[in-house]
Amino acid sequence: MYELKDSYLTGVKTIDDQHRQIFKLADDAYQLLKDENKLFKDDDLLKIVKGLQEYTQYHFTEEETYMEAIGYEGLDTQKRHHNQFIKEIDAIGQEIDSISLGNQNELIEMLLEKLTTWFQEHIEALDRKIT
Ligand SMILES: [Fe+2]
Ligand SMILES: [Fe+2]
Repeated sequence: MYELKDSYLTGVKTIDDQHRQIFKLADDAYQLLKDENKLFKDDDLLKIVKGLQEYTQYHFTEEETYMEAIGYEGLDTQKRHHNQFIKEIDAIGQEIDSISLGNQNELIEMLLEKLTTWFQEHIEALDRKIT
């Protein structure tokens, strides 16, 4: 189960709400991983990854604008991390084309690992410096 815990809160409501939405997409991926009744998971995974791509683009733009407005120190690092994250999610998206029944769960696990690292090393460690 993936949800926004208190330790991830920045204290800025709009940003916390957006982060909550990203956690929701991570939870969708987790539920898909655990779903034993579904044989082919590629369509669902593609939807989740597309959702992540669209939503994180939106969130990063909003967050960077907010950070710029308040004079957040380390905006360059933020932007670099955001761009890197987009590339990593794109790379996972490209792998969906060639997944098979045998390795589809591995790819979902890889996505979840990426997201977990992101939540800890980016949201918890960096985004929270907003306040
Ligand atoms: Fe950020
Ligand atoms: Fe963020």
